[in-house]
Amino acid sequence: MDLYKAMRCAPTTRRFTPDPVPSETLRRVLENARFAPSGGNRQGWRVVVVRDPELRVALRDLYLPGWRAYLESAGGAGVLADPQAFDAATVRRVQGADEYAERLHEVPVHLVVGVRLPDLAVTDASLPRQSIVGGASIYPFVQNILLALRAEGLGAAMTTLLVPAEADVKRLLGIPEEVALAAHIGVGYRADPWPTRLARKPVEEFAFSEHYGQPLA
Ligand SMILES: Cc1cc2nc3c(=O)[nH]c(=O)nc-3n(C[C@H](O)[C@H](O)[C@H](O)COP(=O)(O)O)c2cc1C
Repeated sequence: MDLYKAMRCAPTTRRFTPDPVPSETLRRVLENARFAPSGGNRQGWRVVVVRDPELRVALRDLYLPGWRAYLESAGGAGVLADPQAFDAATVRRVQGADEYAERLHEVPVHLVVGVRLPDLAVTDASLPRQSIVGGASIYPFVQNILLALRAEGLGAAMTTLLVPAEADVKRLLGIPEEVALAAHIGVGYRADPWPTRLARKPVEEFAFSEHYGQPLA
């Protein structure tokens, strides 16, 4: 698949067929994703590929409390309770995400992505604001996985709601102390047709020339 096409049409997939995902395909995805950049080329990423049905149920049980708390805090619970009061796209998104959470154990493959904390150079750690730089050495790798999965014709959903349950997830999967959880990626063959166009803002809304706010030349 052409790279730009993959970038433009890799949506979040929340409904999957039960078809198994070949191990060779997953290996190819990881084989190519590993060329992602990372600070100092330390490549601190670690991935646990989970297919075991009992482990998938356990992961769902750890995911659901975070999802339900997020639903409440972000207003999604109100959308589910009174869908008529909201626009169709919002209702579809919230219902889709809710169904994904409730049926997480049915997703054929779960990629639990972590990063070794000693491998992170967090250059904004001393700033008086929330740090974001640590993520810069793991999320390019995650995005490579998402694009590679798309190129292989596989659907994927990247989420972070398992991260608050990190201690339990690490115990469940035997992940060592120095590895922090970064993302969960549900993987499988997409049950619905691929969308032809994703809803994204135009370049003019986020890119500027020379000074912030000045229109892009
Ligand atoms: C950091 C991050 C966290 C996300 N968390 C969730 C989540 O908890 N549940 C979910 O269903 N989708 C989650 N998503 C997927 C987003 O909802 C999705 O990327 C966005 O709505 C755009 O959808 P589209 O790619 O299908 O157009 C997350 C995506 C990112 C990058």
